[in-house]
Amino acid sequence: MQPSLFSDLNDLRDSETGTITPFKTQLIKWVGNKQRYADQIITHFPKSYGTYFEPFLGSAGVLANLAPSRGVASDVFAPLMEIWLCLAEDPETLKSWYSDRWHWFQAGDHLERYEKIKADYNAAPNGADLLFLSRACYGGVVRFRKKDGLMSTPMGSHPVIKPEKFARRVEMWKPRIAGTRFERLDYLEAFARAGAGDLIYCDPPYAHSQSILYGAQRFRLEDLMQAIADAKSRGVHVALSIDGTKKSGNTYCDIPFPDDLFEHEHFVNIGRSMLKRFQMDGQTLETEVVRDRLLLTYDAPVRESTPR
Ligand SMILES: C[S@@+](CC[C@H](N)C(=O)[O-])C[C@H]1O[C@@H](n2cnc3c(N)ncnc32)[C@H](O)[C@@H]1O
Repeated sequence: MQPSLFSDLNDLRDSETGTITPFKTQLIKWVGNKQRYADQIITHFPKSYGTYFEPFLGSAGVLANLAPSRGVASDVFAPLMEIWLCLAEDPETLKSWYSDRWHWFQAGDHLERYEKIKADYNAAPNGADLLFLSRACYGGVVRFRKKDGLMSTPMGSHPVIKPEKFARRVEMWKPRIAGTRFERLDYLEAFARAGAGDLIYCDPPYAHSQSILYGAQRFRLEDLMQAIADAKSRGVHVALSIDGTKKSGNTYCDIPFPDDLFEHEHFVNIGRSMLKRFQMDGQTLETEVVRDRLLLTYDAPVRESTPR
């Protein structure tokens, strides 16, 4: 029997309304984070499915809201997957990764110590340093230099959350990922594992920013479209988030996809672009509203979203 959506998450439901309360507490900061809008996205998921796959995991915003009973969560970026594996297998170590760096950072010159952690990361990319850098860097935008691939984001001016607060977040996340297996995989490998009745939610890199983000891995939208078509023909349900409009107004990104691949299209408002905010040095850009398109290869009943 296939589990129905949220079937085993009764403890995460609002006891009065029976709805899942949107879960907006982030563990790490990541460009393209979907956590604030994840509750809108998951209302378009099928009512029932087998295993949930999230092959472009990033900061796991959708996974944490869905809290699937059976999931496979993956990303190709190795230091990032170290963080998720540590959360799943040894959450106390994850807390101490954060706490050790936070205390050392607080005890000296902040800028010098931030730069030292960044240099350590660049000398040997690893999850422990990346975790701290994602929380402490400017705008939460972990980005990499084009010429040599080194992490280059300066320190942010915001206070970095205390270890006690981070530890509470770890506890809040644990039940939400309890049914999920984490693996470092290229998305094509993850796709190959999904079978009839499974659900894949894809949130790929925006093609135009990939060269300075996420370690600048190879990614071609055309290959993803082919993988989605193959998965659909095997009976896998696929939901794809994709850059909907770049600026306010209706400029669609010009993204080619085969006719008949998608059955439905929805728009999800994701607010102002974080990357643009960063590039414009923190200025607020009222025009930079971003809407994501959510494309579905299946017929999904539109469920009521949780109250916002
Ligand atoms: C837009 S982000 C996902 C954001 C995520 N939904 C969140 O809430 O944080 C895209 C992710 O795709 C990953 N990625 C890039 N190329 C990939 C590939 N070939 N296979 C798997 N993951 C890839 C990046 O490392 C990045 O974390």
